[in-house]
Amino acid sequence: MTALIWSALYRIELVFMVSFILSASVYAGGAITAGRQQELRNLLIQDCGSCHGLKMKGGLGPALLPSALRNKPAEMIKATILDGRPGTAMPAWRNLISPTEAQWLASLLLQGETQ
Ligand code: HEC
Repeated sequence: MTALIWSALYRIELVFMVSFILSASVYAGGAITAGRQQELRNLLIQDCGSCHGLKMKGGLGPALLPSALRNKPAEMIKATILDGRPGTAMPAWRNLISPTEAQWLASLLLQGETQ
């Protein structure tokens, strides 16, 4: 009898452990790791910077400083990054940048935390 109870408890424990591990990995997929954040910062300066200026002050593309983006919603900036602006030099980045990452980049630009 005691053995039965112990084995039932053990099963319950296993279920908890598995669901904990699953939820932890889902969370990791949604968040952006520190390493990936650094990659995105480099991409912003090297790739975006080639058109928008190393300091985001503009060049071939417009300035992406907080003052320039002041009245522009984060959603619009995110969409511009993901899909580009057809008919202009602004390319789509959807194949390299995920929607979560584009959202993160938009808030980085709006807060002027790109350097
Ligand atoms: C090949 C040049 C080029 C590259 C590379 C480039 N852009 Fe652009 N981008 C442009 C141009 C040109 C525009 C203006 C498009 C227009 O006339 O609407 C623009 C527009 C934008 C806008 C909208 C600005 C506004 O005021 O509405 C954002 C945001 C933006 N780019 C972000 C980025 C980010 C982030 C990257 C890198 C991931 C990037 N761009 C890379 C050329 C570029």
